[in-house]
Amino acid sequence: MEQNIAEAVKIITSKMGSFQPDVGLILGSGLASLVDDVSDKISISYDALPGFPSHGAGAVTGHGTNLILGILGGQKVAILEGRKHYYEDGNPSAMRVPMEVLKQIGVSKLIVTNSAGSMDPDVAPANVMLINDHINYSGLNPLIGQSGDARFVDMSEAYSPKLRELMQRAAKENDISLSEGVYIWYSGPSFETPAEIRALRILGGDAVGMSTVPEVIIGRYLGLEITGLSCLTNMASGMSNTKLSHHQTKQVAAIGAKKIKTLLKSFLQKL
Ligand code: HPA
Repeated sequence: MEQNIAEAVKIITSKMGSFQPDVGLILGSGLASLVDDVSDKISISYDALPGFPSHGAGAVTGHGTNLILGILGGQKVAILEGRKHYYEDGNPSAMRVPMEVLKQIGVSKLIVTNSAGSMDPDVAPANVMLINDHINYSGLNPLIGQSGDARFVDMSEAYSPKLRELMQRAAKENDISLSEGVYIWYSGPSFETPAEIRALRILGGDAVGMSTVPEVIIGRYLGLEITGLSCLTNMASGMSNTKLSHHQTKQVAAIGAKKIKTLLKSFLQKL
């Protein structure tokens, strides 16, 4: 791992010159269009970066595969266009190298985005939810096997209250309705059953998805300040008559992506 990180950092710094990103951004399913508004873009394919997710057989459609550096909302950003999920090959620390690399090239704040199912009957598909906490329903942890006391990461303010307040201000100014709630990580790749969703609602979840939690754990381990947005692409299993599919996720995410774009630009301007 250490060697991959060092090599990837070397390749990126040789391309970015004096540019130093401050904000990292991880894009979820169907949200790749968020990079359209980035200026002064430097794009580096994951294939050129050791330890980054490959374009291989398990990769998910709807995700880009580049690291993009540039300016968005007046901030220097480093965008991971796509993520690797636990369900692709059973590795909960699949995003460890890219995230370590972001930290080493200067990133101190991280915005995570995802597509998720809404478990809140009052929040319909195509809306956006600000994540205020999570439940790691998988029982997995990307830090298992890590040595040292730093592995005992405090998760009490994993989703920065300060950044949440800025995001809510951005939402208000742009007339975007932004609910707040708890994201539950369910491993996937199959969607949940209606009985599972009934159980997850009792546990206190507002949205359910197959990503993000491992990245937030790694991010807090690295000392990053984090905020997260879920694009709600469907009512969770059993809560509507719509059949769930990845095709449907991508279609609705494209609508939510427009709101997330506006929100993020306004949020970044406030940082
Ligand atoms: N469940 C899990 N992951 C998801 C969903 C869902 O309903 N929608 C989009 N990603």
